[in-house]
Amino acid sequence: MMRLLVNIDHIATLRNARGEGYPDPAEAAIVCENAGAAGIVFHLRGDRRHIKDDDVQRLKESVTGILDFEMSASNEMIGICLETEPDLVTLVPEGREELTTEGGLNMTTVFNDFKNRVFPALKDSEIDISLFLDPNPKDIELAHELGAYAVELHTGTFANAVNNDDRKNELERLAKAAQLIHESGMTVNAGHGLNLDNLPQLIEHVPHLTDISIGHALISKAVYWGLEKTVKEYLSLMKN
Ligand code: PXP
Repeated sequence: MMRLLVNIDHIATLRNARGEGYPDPAEAAIVCENAGAAGIVFHLRGDRRHIKDDDVQRLKESVTGILDFEMSASNEMIGICLETEPDLVTLVPEGREELTTEGGLNMTTVFNDFKNRVFPALKDSEIDISLFLDPNPKDIELAHELGAYAVELHTGTFANAVNNDDRKNELERLAKAAQLIHESGMTVNAGHGLNLDNLPQLIEHVPHLTDISIGHALISKAVYWGLEKTVKEYLSLMKN
């Protein structure tokens, strides 16, 4: 069953713009869940540009559905993640200068480190591990070899495609990747750059989708419509 997870990072961005205590990501998380979202995603970045450490604790206390902790695989983040005990951890590459996560993990580069340090550190917890990947068969095979629970497919290239051919090609890559993830016994998640216009096409073409993680476009729309109405609009689109 497909589920909507709302990324609430940009509630914190708005709060931090004035250094006030509002809007509060934990309060926004409650509104999203009450509107029907299956869970909440937050990304605690090394530079703490949006979500801060004390938000993490308050989110843990407020969220009743799925809590997805998006983070880099640094020892600092692994420590905070183990203390927080979210349902899911989504590991992403993180660059200091980037505006947002720019692509999936390069599994060939990180494989040995993940195998020897990251997966063993998380192994005794109840936290499921998801890896944020581009739709490359090689990366997916290595995720499977590591024993990942899920792969979150990076949909940014699809979302940013400037013409129909590029969009169609990327949808085909995503569909094949989703099939491979599913056949390998892992859960298929997806996210990045999704909005009310491009989500129907993704859902129509890509099989086995489980958790769809949406942040910037949803929070932006909520400025006009309110969070409750916006979440409900996404849910009704996913249902239909
Ligand atoms: N999934 C991952 C791994 C991300 O890094 C992000 C951005 O924080 C999202 C999903 C949500 O992307 P967007 O804000 O473009 O909806």
